[in-house]
Amino acid sequence: MSRHQQLCALLTQYRWEYYVADAPTVPDADFDALMRELEAIEAAHPELVTPESPTQQIGPGADLSFTPVTHPSQMLSLDNAFSTDEVRAWRQRLLTSISAEVLDESGYMCEMKIDGLAVDLVYVDGVLTRAATRGDGRVGEDVTANVRTISSIPARLTGRPTGTVEVRGEVFMPLAGFTDLNDALIDERKKTFANPRNAAAGSLRLKDPRVTATRPLSFLCHGIGVCEADIDRLSTAYEHLAAWGLPTSSHARLVHSMDEVMAYIDDLGARRDTLAHEIDGAVVKVDEISIQQGLGATTRAPRWAIAYKFPPVEVTTKLLDIRVGVGRTGRVTPYAVMEPVKVAGSTVEMATLHNASEVQRKGVLIGDTVILRKAGDVIPEVLGPVVSDRTGDERVFQMPTLCPECGSELKPEKLGDVDLRCPNRRSCPAQLRERLIHLASRQGLDIEGLGEKAVDAIVAGGLVTDEGDVFDLTADTLLTCSLFQKTVKGADPVLSKIGAKLLAQLQEAKTKPFDRYLVALSIRHVGKGVAPLIAARYPTIDDLAQASEEELSQIDQVGPTVAEAICSWFAVDWHRAIVEKWKAAGAMAGSGEAPLDLPQTLQGLTIVVSGSVPGFSRDEANRAVVARGAKATGSVSKNTDVLVAGDGAGSKLDKATSLGVQVVDSALFSRLLEEGLDAVVSGPDEGRGPE
Ligand code: IVH
Repeated sequence: MSRHQQLCALLTQYRWEYYVADAPTVPDADFDALMRELEAIEAAHPELVTPESPTQQIGPGADLSFTPVTHPSQMLSLDNAFSTDEVRAWRQRLLTSISAEVLDESGYMCEMKIDGLAVDLVYVDGVLTRAATRGDGRVGEDVTANVRTISSIPARLTGRPTGTVEVRGEVFMPLAGFTDLNDALIDERKKTFANPRNAAAGSLRLKDPRVTATRPLSFLCHGIGVCEADIDRLSTAYEHLAAWGLPTSSHARLVHSMDEVMAYIDDLGARRDTLAHEIDGAVVKVDEISIQQGLGATTRAPRWAIAYKFPPVEVTTKLLDIRVGVGRTGRVTPYAVMEPVKVAGSTVEMATLHNASEVQRKGVLIGDTVILRKAGDVIPEVLGPVVSDRTGDERVFQMPTLCPECGSELKPEKLGDVDLRCPNRRSCPAQLRERLIHLASRQGLDIEGLGEKAVDAIVAGGLVTDEGDVFDLTADTLLTCSLFQKTVKGADPVLSKIGAKLLAQLQEAKTKPFDRYLVALSIRHVGKGVAPLIAARYPTIDDLAQASEEELSQIDQVGPTVAEAICSWFAVDWHRAIVEKWKAAGAMAGSGEAPLDLPQTLQGLTIVVSGSVPGFSRDEANRAVVARGAKATGSVSKNTDVLVAGDGAGSKLDKATSLGVQVVDSALFSRLLEEGLDAVVSGPDEGRGPE
């Protein structure tokens, strides 16, 4: 794999972790550095730039658990500057298309870069009608019900401005609320959030708005999209927004020179720790809208704005202990437990140390004073010890040789691997717990009643040997755990409400679509991104179990690594036994049934679905196509027969048009399914791209 491909793959994965899973695994600064490397490669080799490159994309696309919505106007991202010199260089670049006098005269709106997530609010005649996350910039997720619970977002605007007003801003969680929320989660023995940004994103994307309502979310405007009012400046837009009752920042300043911009950045940096919420930099925007329009935008960011990112912050604290945790795949990870310390706005007391050789490389001893770095919104990192502070009482960390959870001897998976793993894959309680939590997660079978508490009780009580047994749980087995008991005076305990709910939800989960089961199986590299594509090609578990590595790697976006992971998963006896147990329990009932009776109206066609399709999620649309005999793929090529294009089809539509691929409007999708391609194609020359 070339470095370019490697960077594209890594950055795509990291973006997904950050935006969709709300669980980033790398510091932002590392992400930024990789992105810069990719940009440099593409600058030197423009032929490598494709619309799919992370340099060209705004976000990872919408999560299909929410209804996709197309924004009235595109939501762009921001280009970053990592030094004040780069901010000056930004202005310098603008001077090739506009004079310095005109630019300075227009002014620069300086703002905080709030660490939250962008949302788009659509008001019609002053009434909030829809709220969506940014998604890929064109299509976001409909989070209206959740946004309605945020008290700083008015349901009606003062003065009722007529027509559509599209308000952009940041939803975030103030620090005090974040600490309270995490404290409450600790009390409930639930997973805490790594930082306020994740907490805000996670809270906004909860399924139950009543829970979102309990989360301390706040909002500040940072822009305006479609609007019928006559607005010539961003500063004027903010005045209108404030007059309509929307929250605007009191920290924004309009200035007229780069020296003042620098002073703003300095001042904001100095006040950063006194703010009620986290910020990771400053944003500088050209104020006059006509100049903004003249400067335009690249595919992902406007030229008229730049985000200055604060440098990472370093503090020192005491390393109290190094402990180890066991993950879903058995990886044993040492982590630092530190004296709580405030860094870049939030309090940190734990940080991963990745593996034993990292601990050695960093040279840290238990009891050391250590340097801790946090780049604003990112995962904290222990950089190393302050050797001069040593007293002689420090201890060397010993990586355990036995699994702290099940006592198995730890081993690297392959010779030379730095990570140690617990080989007791099937029944190490830690691994089983993590797999069950994953199985029940929203991306998996979405079984709310199988949360951390329930999983802990089920594993500790020995109610299951592995996940193969989950559908065999009964009222009797659950009753052996106190968590699922309700005591009745003078009688034997009966099944508690949560126990009954869990059983009902397990029953309901049996008919979940096959791609959810694929995620639930914890096959390495098979997440919610590729699972629907795999399920579209192999709609039942038996089809999939028989597929060869070679056949699997033919599926779009399934490379050799994923194909290998699937085949090796099926090669393990107890994995196949899980499948058999699930089948025997009546689970996976929803998979692969539809294709049997449906007329094969699309036999032999290769179809790509892009953008929103009314009434269908992307998975459902792909499954519907496959159920009628077609192959569903994710990207347009010369082998594509049909592109079903909905709002937000974007670059795929452009590509299909340029390749002369038949394009079918998503409004005709149901007819396409029912009656086949001929029914929706008007004539031989219509709807085709250039010949
Ligand atoms: S303006 C076209 N202003 O930063 C302009 N964004 O890294 C797009 N953000 O998606 C956004 N504070 O979520 C803007 N004062 C601010 C901001 C801000 C935070 C976020 C926003 C955006 C991201 C880009």
